[in-house]
Amino acid sequence: MYKLSFLFFVAMGYIVQNQCERYSLNYIYTALSKPVELPGIHEFTAMGLMNDRQIDYYDSDVKQKIPKQGWMKEKLPPDYWEKGTQSRKSKEQWFKVNVNILMERMRHNNTDVHILQWKHGCEIDEQNNGTMRFIKGTDQYSYDGDDFLSFDDATSQWVAPVDQAQLTKRKWDGVQILNQYTKGYLEKECVDWLSKFMSYGEQELKKASPPKVYAFAKKARTEGHVRLTCMATGFYPKDVEMQIRKNGVPLTKDDGVHSEGVLPNNDETYQIRKSVQIPEADTNDYECHVDHRTLTEPQVVKWDGKCCDCSSSKGVIIGSIVGVVVVVLLIILIVVLWKRLRDNGSRPWSPVSQNGNINGGTNTPVYANGGTGTPVVLLLTRPRQAQEVQAIPLRAQAVEATQ
Ligand SMILES: *[C@@H]1O[C@H](CO)[C@@H](O)[C@H](O)[C@H]1NC(C)=O
Ligand SMILES: *[C@@H]1O[C@H](CO)[C@@H](O)[C@H](O)[C@H]1NC(C)=O
Repeated sequence: MYKLSFLFFVAMGYIVQNQCERYSLNYIYTALSKPVELPGIHEFTAMGLMNDRQIDYYDSDVKQKIPKQGWMKEKLPPDYWEKGTQSRKSKEQWFKVNVNILMERMRHNNTDVHILQWKHGCEIDEQNNGTMRFIKGTDQYSYDGDDFLSFDDATSQWVAPVDQAQLTKRKWDGVQILNQYTKGYLEKECVDWLSKFMSYGEQELKKASPPKVYAFAKKARTEGHVRLTCMATGFYPKDVEMQIRKNGVPLTKDDGVHSEGVLPNNDETYQIRKSVQIPEADTNDYECHVDHRTLTEPQVVKWDGKCCDCSSSKGVIIGSIVGVVVVVLLIILIVVLWKRLRDNGSRPWSPVSQNGNINGGTNTPVYANGGTGTPVVLLLTRPRQAQEVQAIPLRAQAVEATQ
């Protein structure tokens, strides 16, 4: 067992180590079937991304390929941008035609907006002797967010996951010389550009930023539960590993861990959140475990057991105690009152009459069930009622918080 977990950690270390020298260059083109009146959304957009950061940009309103990094602007000559602008303009036309062809094939009309997207690029890693090795190439089209057609680099064939793409696949595979060109682009030309860009932007690209890690909890939708969240933000590059650990054991999707994945901040850094719902009274140890290439060892942040927007667990305990005391006092009071009233021979006064006609107008003694029974049962089984009982200790808690 010990050996197994040791091997596991060695393997993890290897993966993390290996990721350290990975670099990627991708181009993403997005075309809408018709313009939408939304700020920042254009009928056609194209951009280059290197290691998940924008290096260039074009859209159907700007009509120019423009640099997005200082070193791109500085190192690449004007004719790189002029040729790039021409190339993007012709791609814009290609997309306009093809999004319409796809809409027809999908039997979609012009009522809704449809989206055709193309992504191509390559990923490489750096060997110990400094040479670059091709890892994988990407060339894929998607329609309305679903895969439509993708290039399998190993076999130099197009893969069609949907029926409507079969026709295109057959047509494109029919011109093998174009498939050879695509393979060559991904494995050679793309890698050459990536290496070139890396040497240009070396200083800035090596700038990494470590994550800041937070653990906090907020009231969950489900009564009596909190949503525990681990958040890491401000890191670059994008690759990160995050776990929520309960008593040292990582929780998984099966335990209800939820995440939207890695998201961009607006300063070229990234953030990730993972959260899980747990009972408010849970006293297990929870911690956030984050690994990033900027860290020599994983950063661990323990959850302090507090919930930002619900009464603290201390408050609940005090609340329950005070609640019980109040109920016991009430019972005594009622029993005393009832005895007195019975001794007087008159009808008992019902303290629960505002709860409805539990007792109706009958003469049956009510306190055994209504007066004394109900509040106790409520406290034990109906948390909402129990919380109302806690109204008193909440004030004590507020005082505590200001000290
Ligand atoms: C367009 O498609 C939508 C959804 O498929 C349909 O409800 C609508 O009637 C269609 N409109 C026309 C003009 O065909
Ligand atoms: C660098 O190392 C790789 C294997 O690790 C090898 O295939 C390649 O030929 C080496 N290149 C040089 C220039 O030594």
